[in-house]
Amino acid sequence: MQIIILKSEKAAADFTARLMADAVKGNPKTVFGLATGRTMEPVYARLIALYKEEKLDFSKCTTFNLDEYIGVAPENPISYRATMQRLLFDHINVRPKATHVPDGMAKSTEKAGRKYEDAIAKAGGIDFQLLGIGLDGHIGFNEPLSSFASLTHEEVLTPATLAQNAGLCDGNVPCRAMTMGVGTILASRRAVMLVTGQKKAALMEQFIEGPITPIISACALHFHRDCVVILDAKAASSLKHKDHY
Ligand code: GLP
Repeated sequence: MQIIILKSEKAAADFTARLMADAVKGNPKTVFGLATGRTMEPVYARLIALYKEEKLDFSKCTTFNLDEYIGVAPENPISYRATMQRLLFDHINVRPKATHVPDGMAKSTEKAGRKYEDAIAKAGGIDFQLLGIGLDGHIGFNEPLSSFASLTHEEVLTPATLAQNAGLCDGNVPCRAMTMGVGTILASRRAVMLVTGQKKAALMEQFIEGPITPIISACALHFHRDCVVILDAKAASSLKHKDHY
């Protein structure tokens, strides 16, 4: 695992966007796994700026979002589909059909999970998986004890997650979600996590410096062959081995 510490939230977000831009330049057909959450907002804003300023071309890219609330229609502004449209997809030249978000309205979450995995496989697998982290250590919506081998599935959200996301949903946070599994994330060719802010400093020490525990789903990333964690100085402030990184 590679740890990169940058001074400010802006520097960390810009660097993350730059890695994504480099991926597209290196391979115009990059398959991205994408994340939601406040941390990603400046990253998507920067990508839109790069699209405009540097004519970054997303027309051959494919995207798969990590997760979606169950029982929330795509038209609902709190859905992750609507959020992605608003924050990124509506402002760049990615083909609408090439953007995927798990189906939160599916009658069978099991079937929907299998369908999502099939679509990822059909696209050739995820080249670049962007990740944030929840305050309880979740990646995607893989809450504590989600199997490190899990594929796309339904999760019941923890009270910590409901509280964390309340501000993004007018207080009415749906309590279940469809999420790529930890195993889906581990199968990506590259995983890039962005973490900013003092609130996540203690969690960063637990997740990065161990011990590995299933209570923090993100710990599974230690088994990923190419995982980069980008932190701002605040999120990195409790790390003990900064000199080494
Ligand atoms: C949600 C998403 C996660 C994301 C997390 C972080 O729970 N399902 O994928 O990592 O938010 O949110 P924030 O960036 O707002 O701290």
